[in-house]
Amino acid sequence: MGFANWYDEQVVPRLIRCACSSPAIMALRTKVVPLASGRVFEIGCGGGINQEFYDAPRIDSYCGMDPSAKGLEFARASANQKGWSADIREGTGEAIPYPDASFDCVVCTFTLCSVQDQAGTLAQLRRILKPGGRLFYTEHGRAPDANVLRWQERIEPVWKRLAGGCHLTRPIGDAVAQTGFDVREMGRRYLPKTPRFAGWVEWGEAIRI
Ligand SMILES: C[S@@+](CC[C@H](N)C(=O)[O-])C[C@H]1O[C@@H](n2cnc3c(N)ncnc32)[C@H](O)[C@@H]1O
Repeated sequence: MGFANWYDEQVVPRLIRCACSSPAIMALRTKVVPLASGRVFEIGCGGGINQEFYDAPRIDSYCGMDPSAKGLEFARASANQKGWSADIREGTGEAIPYPDASFDCVVCTFTLCSVQDQAGTLAQLRRILKPGGRLFYTEHGRAPDANVLRWQERIEPVWKRLAGGCHLTRPIGDAVAQTGFDVREMGRRYLPKTPRFAGWVEWGEAIRI
């Protein structure tokens, strides 16, 4: 295994797990993840950090998908720790192997920044939701301030290489709305104690129209 592969497969999942567990990010998870109910699908479930926030009695089934083998290991360990039955599979958001309208809710946190095809992934998430189904999202992305955005554009090429393909300039709520969701934004802000170029977050609920 070359250095780049080793870095992406072994180091990045650990870095992400650490960075995505900051108190500010954990607080954001509590605003959306516990709202999921029924048949739930989580895209980018690697790391398994969200699992502790699901309200298990409200959930009929939980399926998670992620392309990272190491991330899936962490996710399966979280499922064991929670003691619930979870169907956790390797795969990408661009090609979700479930039939149309399979789920009541989809959860997507800090993942749309990393998928290869954001619009394609959102279209897949919409497809697997039943009509009226709900997508709960918390994502970081394109800042509304021109000076911050300029820095995001400068840093993004290097950042992507170091952070597992993570983009800094992708729109969040607007991208969700453009895919055929009725977006009910719950909040948007810069994260405290985080560099602004990586700290713009938006979270909310989006109903499949
Ligand atoms: C920043 S991490 C966030 C992990 C987790 N969602 C969380 O909130 O802690 C980004 C995740 O997206 C996953 N990912 C990367 N490309 C993906 C793709 N094409 N489809 C689905 N997930 C992908 C990565 O493996 C990683 O687990």
